Amino acid sequence: MKTHRYEVVVVGAGGAGLMAALQASRRAATAVLSKLYPIRSHTGAAQGGIGAALGNLEEDSPEWHTYDTVKGSDYLGDQDAIEFMCHEAVETVYELEHMGLPFSRTPDGRIAQRRFGGHTNNITGKPVQRACYAADRTGHMILQTLYQQCIKRNVTFFDEFQVLDLIVVNGAAAGVVAIELATGELHVFHAKAVIFATGGYGRMWEITSNAYAYTGDGIAVALRRGIPAEDLEFFQFHPTGIYKLGILITEGVRGEGGVLINDLGERFMERYAPHVKDLASRDVVSRAMYIEMREGRGIGGQRYLYLDVRPETVNKYAAIDGRTNPDGSPYQVTADDIMAKLPEIIDFCRTYMGVDPVTEPMPVQPTAHYAMGGIPTNIRTEVVIDEQNTVMPGLYAAGETACVSVHGANRLGTNSLVDIIVFGRHAGINAAEFARGASFQPLPSDAADFARQQLDRLLNSKGKERPIEIANEMKHTMFDLVGVFRTEESMQQALEKIRELKERYAYIQLHDHGKIFNTELLTAWELGNLLDLAEVTTVSALARKESRGAHSREDYPERDDEHWLKHTLAWLDEDGVRLGYKPVVITKYEPKERVY
Ligand code: FUM
Repeated sequence: MKTHRYEVVVVGAGGAGLMAALQASRRAATAVLSKLYPIRSHTGAAQGGIGAALGNLEEDSPEWHTYDTVKGSDYLGDQDAIEFMCHEAVETVYELEHMGLPFSRTPDGRIAQRRFGGHTNNITGKPVQRACYAADRTGHMILQTLYQQCIKRNVTFFDEFQVLDLIVVNGAAAGVVAIELATGELHVFHAKAVIFATGGYGRMWEITSNAYAYTGDGIAVALRRGIPAEDLEFFQFHPTGIYKLGILITEGVRGEGGVLINDLGERFMERYAPHVKDLASRDVVSRAMYIEMREGRGIGGQRYLYLDVRPETVNKYAAIDGRTNPDGSPYQVTADDIMAKLPEIIDFCRTYMGVDPVTEPMPVQPTAHYAMGGIPTNIRTEVVIDEQNTVMPGLYAAGETACVSVHGANRLGTNSLVDIIVFGRHAGINAAEFARGASFQPLPSDAADFARQQLDRLLNSKGKERPIEIANEMKHTMFDLVGVFRTEESMQQALEKIRELKERYAYIQLHDHGKIFNTELLTAWELGNLLDLAEVTTVSALARKESRGAHSREDYPERDDEHWLKHTLAWLDEDGVRLGYKPVVITKYEPKERVY
């Protein structure tokens, strides 16, 4: 076993991890541990844009962005954190531009911006162009830019190191234990401060836009060390995933004028969100799609709808909506415009479906996309461990793995990229500052034991259960029973199934007992994380007897602010899940009915 010592250890090399590393490494000896080669991180899958009220094409303001985010969150987002994020977003986007990020441009050379769901002009209520984009490869460009900056600054990377455990000494974070994939060797990273930026857990669901790596590792590791998970019942389903595959088709398609169409050829969002139609927030659009499909208006009666961005369709509805360009001329697009602005999704559709979006509508269905919940943090990205927001010294979290909470019950598109950059940056600065004033905690001699036990248990299991079957049953259960719509009955059924799967998981059989790139072992370990989070998600969702944002209960269809305007905290131990609650931070915007 090797031991390393860094003042700050960043776990995860997506946008949040890289931004944190960039900042921390300017101030403290920093290492980044990533289970992937960094530029394969899931940030690279983000397509349509990063939200910032630059006002490059029309009037906009960070305060409008703040209000839209609060409203989009169905009033569960913490307003101090939201305000901070939306105001910082502007500077952040310019910072990325100055690092060299190749944003798409307006004709006069400024950063191009497009419409996205839930982002509005707060005076007219109409969609506003706030998403700053690099074609439909915005996340990819962010990842490349940040990684290049990290390389330029000689940030130390440990690529293909999977973190298995958090070392806690005297109630403070003291490092992590990781397995080196290439050798199977365990490494202890002794640190003064640890930043978790490990992303989400969308692989829990059958149809998902998430990468294979998205298995909730950071949240699961934290849960095993007594740190609660916040608001896991809120998981976002993005309206437009490729039918059956779940691969993301960016909301930017609708931002550019694409519309959702049912089997009757209707633009059905007119009925559900008469003001902003296809650009309502994601929870609203996904539910509308489910209702359409359930009532038999899926295409050919099947479980999908059409997303239509053919120029003739875009131009027809733009004329109906009276959409204009900034100079007041009618909004019209050509096939070349669509190809220039949405090259990636055109390529995906041609490759995976044999459908050309320029001449045919795309078959889409809602796809599990984003965890609003995660490891609880305060606005400084310090991890908090109870209802009183007590800080665990030395532990920080940022990005999708964290719940700060800026997304509340439903995230607006483009706000994940803002979140990772704004809070990634602050995690890096704050962790490095903490490290400068702190000493290393004494490292226990058995620091790696818990991690080793977890792997040994999997390797030595004598059962016959196949991890892939357990995984498939979990995904199917969560998608069908704890998905876009939920009931007491469906979730009870899911909980029983998840608990059965957890029992079976104790009897899995692995065939690879080797050390070198034992991906079977690691996939099995990740499955354990997903099963734990599936249980926490379901128990948290069962307890919340209301509908809010992405948590839509058919047996409790109304939002209930009197009883449920609060965050869930969930602890997991051998006796199961224990729940607690803490208040939502409300500064300016009192909850009211959401109208789109
Ligand atoms: O639709 C999209 O491009 C996704 C963006 C996001 O999740 O923020």
